[in-house]
Amino acid sequence: MKIVLAEKVSPATLAVFKSEPDWKIVSHDEIKNGLPAELADADGLVVRSAVQVDDALLASAPKLRVIGRAGVGVDNIDADAATRRGIVVMNTPGANAIAVAELTLGMMLALARQLPKANATMHAGKWEKKSLQGVELRGKKLGVLGLGRIGLEVARRARSFGMEIIGHDPFVSAAVARENAIQLVSTEELFRDADYLTLHVGLTPQTSGIINETTLASMKKGVRIVNCARGELIVEAALAAALKSGHVGGAALDVFHQEPPKDSPFFGLDNVILTPHVAGSTAEAQEAVGVQIALQVREYLKLGVVQNA
Ligand code: MLT
Repeated sequence: MKIVLAEKVSPATLAVFKSEPDWKIVSHDEIKNGLPAELADADGLVVRSAVQVDDALLASAPKLRVIGRAGVGVDNIDADAATRRGIVVMNTPGANAIAVAELTLGMMLALARQLPKANATMHAGKWEKKSLQGVELRGKKLGVLGLGRIGLEVARRARSFGMEIIGHDPFVSAAVARENAIQLVSTEELFRDADYLTLHVGLTPQTSGIINETTLASMKKGVRIVNCARGELIVEAALAAALKSGHVGGAALDVFHQEPPKDSPFFGLDNVILTPHVAGSTAEAQEAVGVQIALQVREYLKLGVVQNA
């Protein structure tokens, strides 16, 4: 069995594969002649988010049986092309949920208390106490779009801040929503009523551009928007315009259409916090996604057991 680890993984991840004495494991720093050449005789491929696994790459991998994505979003993998070729695509939902949820709460607090401005002005030797009055999360309505593992972790944490949670997810049951004290609403109500809106849906044709000129116009004036999911959920020019007009009070964005972004409409806007797609980047989460995908890929190749496909 040959496994190609096309991106950097943790030593514990490598150790799972290396525990199979007869398997050949090629880590990303051992790929010398390019990924297509390495994949010519590979049975398994592990990626994170940087490698684009498209049909052309898959054509170079005639023996490939499984692609493991260490993380949640599989938008860097052409899943249809993989399926046509009989290749199973797996991910690790949940393994980085806490990391993403914690950053989301951090983003909300940073927006509410203007932390980037407070930090920047202090470093510039200024004491701008008067202009740094914030607002509390307590008593505000948090709209959570997408109530999967991450959305639910966000809701649980936000509740401990005294926020009221409304949420939308066509796949979540009323019982799960009730257990988590989330009021299920339509997307129209979610956009209309939220003081803070946070996005936790995958990128699909249905969700692409869901935050656009029309939906933004339907939101409360001053709404604060957090996106730690996928950049394409938001029409960036529309959000930038709403931020400039003040209709949207603030945005905290970890993800972008183009990563890294060039000439982003958000550069220079002082009511926007930008981070470089680090929501899932904690030591704990990277360890968890790596080890989990290694276990899943190994189980599939040895026993044919499919998890999180
Ligand atoms: C994910 O999809 O798992 C997160 O966005 C983090 C990542 O892309 O690695």
